[in-house]
Amino acid sequence: MARLTEIAGLNAFWGGVFVPTMGGLHEGHLELVRKAKDLGHPVVVSVFVNPDQFNDQDDYADYPRQFEADAAQAEAAGADLVWGPSNAVIYPQGEDVATPDLPRVATHPGLEDAHRPGHFAGVLRVVQRLFDLVRPEVAVFGEKDWQQLQVVQSMVDRDGGPRIHAMPTCREAEGLARSSRNERLSPLAKQRARAVYLALQAAGAANHPSTAERVMRETLESHDLEVEYAVVRSSVGLRSVDDFSRPSRALIAAWLDGVRLIDNLPMPVWT
Ligand code: PAF
Repeated sequence: MARLTEIAGLNAFWGGVFVPTMGGLHEGHLELVRKAKDLGHPVVVSVFVNPDQFNDQDDYADYPRQFEADAAQAEAAGADLVWGPSNAVIYPQGEDVATPDLPRVATHPGLEDAHRPGHFAGVLRVVQRLFDLVRPEVAVFGEKDWQQLQVVQSMVDRDGGPRIHAMPTCREAEGLARSSRNERLSPLAKQRARAVYLALQAAGAANHPSTAERVMRETLESHDLEVEYAVVRSSVGLRSVDDFSRPSRALIAAWLDGVRLIDNLPMPVWT
C-alpha cells in the first residue's frame, strides 16, 4: 500500500484499475474500491477536489477535505495506491491542461448541463488529466451521477481511454443514495430525502413516461422538495422517450434544506 501526492512514482501503478474520487469517502466509494480489486491490479484511488467542476464556491469550500482519513479507508478497502494531488500538480502553472470537446450528452439533455453550466467541462478536463497521469486499463464510476457516467463513456468511445466499469448506486437501508452531499442532511431531512427514492420507484410502476414524470414531481413536492428536474430519458444519450420499449432511466435533481440531491433508477423495459 502506498500514498502519493506528486506525479513522481505514479508510473509504478500504470495499467491498473482506477477509482477517481473527490474524497469524503463513504460506503459508496468503498464499494467501488472493493469491486476494483476484482477487476484487476493495482487499484489506484485518487482524492482530488476539482475546483473546475463546482458552480458554487460555497459548495467547493464546504466539500470535505480529509486526505488521511480517506486514504486509511481506501487502503482498508483494498487500494494499492491512494493519490492525493494538489491543485498545482493537476493544473501546473504555465501548462495548458486541455478541456476535451463536450459530447452531445454533456450539452443537450437539459439536465445537469442546464442546471450546472460549465460542470461537465470541468469534469472532463480533470478526468482526462487523471487518465493521462494514472494510465488505467479500467476506470470505475458509480451510476449515481448517471449523466456524468454517460459523458465520460462518450468521451472514451470517441477519444479512447480505459474501459469504463459502471457500478450500481449504493443506498442506505431506506433507499437514500449514499453521497458526500447527502451526509450534510440532518436526520429529519434524511427522512424527507427518502422521497427521492420513493419517487423513482413510483416512476417504475407507471405505464407511460409522462405519467412517471408527473408522479415523481408530485411525490417530491408532497415532501416539500424543490424539484429541478424529474424526467424519464433514454439510458444512453438521455433523449426524450415516448414509451418504455427501450432502456430508459428516471432521473431526479431536487433541493432539500440547501442540499442538492440527484439520483436515478432504470425503468423496466416493456416488450
Ligand atoms: O464523481 C466524482 O466524484 C467526480 O466528478 C470525479 C469523477 C472524481 C471527477 O472529479
